[in-house]
Amino acid sequence: MSVKTLTIDGVPIAIEEGTTVLEAARQNGVHIPTLCHLEGISDVGACRLCLVEINGSPKLQPACVTEVAEGMNIRTNTETLQDYRRTIVELLFAEGNHVCAVCVANGHCELQDLAIEVGMDHSRLPYRFPEREIDVSHDRFGIDHNRCVLCTRCVRVCDEIEGAHVWDVAYRGAALKVVTGLNQPWGAVDACTSCGKCVDACPTGAIFRKGSTVAEMERDRDRLEFIVNARKDHQWTR
Ligand code: SF4
Ligand code: SF4
Ligand code: FES
Repeated sequence: MSVKTLTIDGVPIAIEEGTTVLEAARQNGVHIPTLCHLEGISDVGACRLCLVEINGSPKLQPACVTEVAEGMNIRTNTETLQDYRRTIVELLFAEGNHVCAVCVANGHCELQDLAIEVGMDHSRLPYRFPEREIDVSHDRFGIDHNRCVLCTRCVRVCDEIEGAHVWDVAYRGAALKVVTGLNQPWGAVDACTSCGKCVDACPTGAIFRKGSTVAEMERDRDRLEFIVNARKDHQWTR
């Protein structure tokens, strides 16, 4: 095992080669905001909330997909980063239709938590108010595309943990959306095992259990990490 030495926010640390900057920060008690990252599944660097500054790099780097290197000097919470993070959250709110007061995830939503964390009380960008559909064709679950932030957690969890690969991303640009099957109604997709892992993975109110009322939707985030560890260690109790 090779060890890398570096600094995070001025504090020197030593950490195993191959660790991501995000893991290194978390292991050393440094909080970096994330949205598309979820313990137990792969990282794709989709949301860019975890951007950090690294000495010698002219670009901001996503901490979740950047590996530590010898001598790195990382800053995780500069004014520039705070400003970018707030803008990213504003973009997400302006891009969809987030009416928290009538959302199943109100009070249990990672996007809402991020808005509070970055100090966003309104969007400085014009809201797009797109017209998007809601699919409630599945017996037990539904998806409201108005609240999807395209983090692709559902896509990755269904593929990597459940192995069903029901979810995918279709179209481009502003038309980009997650789809089930070959863009079929969710209820018509035979591959879906109704395991609910996508429901637990979704950070917002986009994927929900039918019958959940406003502000009621809580997720079991640890379930996915538990499954991954249990498969590896053959330990199925928690
Ligand atoms: S998904 Fe989150 S941010 Fe969007 S409306 Fe629901 S509670 Fe608000
Ligand atoms: S449905 Fe939920 S988990 Fe899937 S991409 Fe949208 S916000 Fe992410
Ligand atoms: S958490 Fe790193 S890009 Fe989303």
